Amino acid sequence: MAMQWIRLMIVLAVCMLPLSVEGMVRHYKFNVVMKNATRLCSTKPIVTVNGKFPGPTIYAREDDNVLVKVVNHVKYNVSIHWHGIRQLRTGWADGPAYITQCPIQPGQVYMYNFTLTGQRGTLWWHAHILWLRATVHGAIVILPKLGVPYPFPRPHMEQVIILSEWWKSDTEAVINEALKSGLASNVSDAHTINGHPGPIKNCASQGGLNLQVQPGKTYLLRVINAALNEELFFKVAGHKLTVVEVDAAYTKPFNTDTIVIAPGQTTNVLLKANHASGKYLVAASPFMDAPIAVDNITATATLHYTGSLGSTITTLTSLPPKNATPIATTFSDSLRSLNSKKYPARVPIKVDHSLFFTVSLGVNPCATCVNGSRVVAAINNVTFVMPKISLLQAHFFNISGVFTDDFPGKPPVVYDFTGKKQPTNFRTNRGTRLYRLPYNSTVQLVLQDTGMLTPENHPIHLHGFNFFVVGKGQGNFNPKNDTKNFNLIDPVERNTVGVQSGGWTAIRFRADNPGVWFMHCHLEIHTTWGLKMAFVVDNGKGPNESLLPPPRDFPKC
Ligand code: C2O
Repeated sequence: MAMQWIRLMIVLAVCMLPLSVEGMVRHYKFNVVMKNATRLCSTKPIVTVNGKFPGPTIYAREDDNVLVKVVNHVKYNVSIHWHGIRQLRTGWADGPAYITQCPIQPGQVYMYNFTLTGQRGTLWWHAHILWLRATVHGAIVILPKLGVPYPFPRPHMEQVIILSEWWKSDTEAVINEALKSGLASNVSDAHTINGHPGPIKNCASQGGLNLQVQPGKTYLLRVINAALNEELFFKVAGHKLTVVEVDAAYTKPFNTDTIVIAPGQTTNVLLKANHASGKYLVAASPFMDAPIAVDNITATATLHYTGSLGSTITTLTSLPPKNATPIATTFSDSLRSLNSKKYPARVPIKVDHSLFFTVSLGVNPCATCVNGSRVVAAINNVTFVMPKISLLQAHFFNISGVFTDDFPGKPPVVYDFTGKKQPTNFRTNRGTRLYRLPYNSTVQLVLQDTGMLTPENHPIHLHGFNFFVVGKGQGNFNPKNDTKNFNLIDPVERNTVGVQSGGWTAIRFRADNPGVWFMHCHLEIHTTWGLKMAFVVDNGKGPNESLLPPPRDFPKC
């Protein structure tokens, strides 16, 4: 009898699930702890979440409320960012240290509380302070609402694939050394796929991803680039990949041999296991088309047809050379929003704020540095200076003296940004300057690379919003001609976009999220050098268009 009741109750509970409009509450606990890592023949302790590298995956559905209790057991200040999650009205949970929150100090606890509204797909979380994100990162998988299918054939299985960089020495020492000298930081010692580099010289392989597949089945790979400083190519020998989503927004499917993925970006691909048997190499290698040093070691994993025992592995006939710009361009040119009835691309057509930002490196004096100067980076020649308390607090509580809202909408000097003749003065201005936007205003932002020091590809990430990539091109942006060619129908929607070396990218978004939202280059060294700024978006009318008050356990500086 009792058994039957339990059964009935389970049936009732299950039946009621799809009816509930609101999502579920998902609880996670993140213990930030040191852990001895044994990869790459080194056993140095690294900062991790729950002792894992990469850290735990957060699984949730669209509309769910996610609660992550972060407990800091290490000697560093910590904060966690939920990269790509819109955080509608919940900027307090966004995570970048000194932008939306004071860090969680050693021994302290903070509960991140946010709801997954209007998003589904792959995103990721990472530490957003110092260089801790090198080892403090993991995936976020947002499944569609119960009963809602993917807009592509249902995969047989799914696999998270996190690409990353690995240093033999402590990453905090790496960046501190660079800051002291005023020069570039050391490149990493290896790339990793789900925490493993694969077999590399002078080091016996210690496991690694071995993806088991069955002939004829289709797999969904959720690929994340969690590397600090490198854009990557990702390939699987003998298999085509069908791109179906980037940055948790569905795309028109297209086939490719190689995906190109910048730090911060996520890419979902379908892989059809269309061989009968065998083992195939999976590889991640760097993309860099400027004269800048990169870590040249390819990370590898294997794709293994179940039941085939052989030890021979099909390698890649060719890995893209690191400067394979055409591959990168073809890939990014192929990306389009799905723009279906169910998932329309809501591209802002009328523009309220038309902004033009140069992204560049620069050089400022530094008496104690190696050359008497330090390399810096800037947007519109402003090298961003981090405040001492969070900008969001300063905004919400009207605390003056923390920031100004006079970030320039145009560069101070207009010149041939991508031409050979660059200004001789590389000096930048310093400041904690924000750009203010009224609620619901629309923004067009042209990001223009420059040749200062060197042109370089910059993956620019905007917090709090998705944007549409309406145009891109080589050389200098020409407002007259280039605007005519903008794609306002089905441009790709994302949260991180590469501004190509010596070129420009135009994005549009609607400022429908009140708060303070960080925008920065997702190459960690460039962020450290000051390639960052923030937008402050005012409240709209009434509580639904206003930032919520901070939670009770909000960390103090
Ligand atoms: Cu994924 Cu502000 O970062």
